Amino acid sequence: MLFRQLLTRLFLLFGCLAAANAWLHAEELPAIPDEYPAGPLGEVVQLGERLVLETKDHPLSKPYVGNQLNCTSCHLDGGTHPDAGSFLQVASAYPAWSPRENRVITLEDRVLNCFMRSQNGIRPPNGSRVSVAITTYITWLSTASKIQMNEKKPLGPRHVPELKIDWSKANPEQGKLDYQTYCLDCHGQDGQGTADGPPVWGPQSFNDGAGLSRVPKMASWLKVGMPLGDPSLTEQEAADIAAYINRHERPKFKLEWHLPEAHRLGEYNSQPSVP
Ligand code: HEC
Ligand code: HEC
Repeated sequence: MLFRQLLTRLFLLFGCLAAANAWLHAEELPAIPDEYPAGPLGEVVQLGERLVLETKDHPLSKPYVGNQLNCTSCHLDGGTHPDAGSFLQVASAYPAWSPRENRVITLEDRVLNCFMRSQNGIRPPNGSRVSVAITTYITWLSTASKIQMNEKKPLGPRHVPELKIDWSKANPEQGKLDYQTYCLDCHGQDGQGTADGPPVWGPQSFNDGAGLSRVPKMASWLKVGMPLGDPSLTEQEAADIAAYINRHERPKFKLEWHLPEAHRLGEYNSQPSVP
């Protein structure tokens, strides 16, 4: 009897702690604006939102996409997911220092880089409708965030934190088994994707210049994002699966293949001597 009472109390206590934790976390979450801006600005925000959700199919963005992914494939829920590629508060981090470009880059540049790498496509010209609309949507999602430009790297305050584990222990053989258990139904036996999930390797996937092609980035993203709706992998499982996925072939990244003809470039904000 006494034992049961003790158990009940423990459950109550944990229940309260869980609730308090959920509340605290909810407090930290920046609110998503509940209304679009009025007039043409609001229309451009909504266009940007559509492009993020339908990147590979929308007639404006499709010419710049070279695979079967949309921005929302990785920036879950159109970037409103709080953890997995969140766009919340992102605009507040830009302009930011980018070690890769060896330059300070704008949010627009950052968006366009994801076209060349994660979308395995062609960089839309700076100032094009696609580029402005998506940047406007992401900026709108940061409404009310305090500007806090990032002097270290082009990442917002909610970027995926890198797991602190020993990457040399990531085991692709175990990852293969875990992939079959947790991922195969939606992403397919050959990583080619199904009606329920996009490709994760092969010709229709992101290229080897994309963030997710690096095992630590992929594992850290999986930890907060997959399986979809129930991100429940242990850190080791995430590392093993990431090592398995990224062991496969995917398109190669070569900058020249992803830049538009010079007259359509706008200005590519990069120091050419740095790859
Ligand atoms: C294959 C996955 C993938 C796709 C598709 C993708 N991205 Fe990304 N993107 C990433 C990853 C990974 C990062 C780094 C995020 C991190 O480390 O938290 C990133 C970073 C970004 C950032 C910077 C975020 C920050 O915190 O500063 C922006 C902006 C962005 N992407 C925009 C886009 C847009 C717009 C599209 C569609 C045109 C797109 N991405 C498509 C994976 C992807
Ligand atoms: C219930 C189906 C489902 C399961 C199970 C699932 N995913 Fe996904 N996954 C998706 C969908 C759908 C997306 C794209 C999100 C969107 O469009 O909203 C996605 C996106 C991804 C992406 C980024 C986009 C891309 O295709 O490169 C990766 C990587 C990924 N999943 C890996 C995994 C791994 C690894 C597992 C197993 C641990 C897993 N997923 C389990 C449905 C699923």
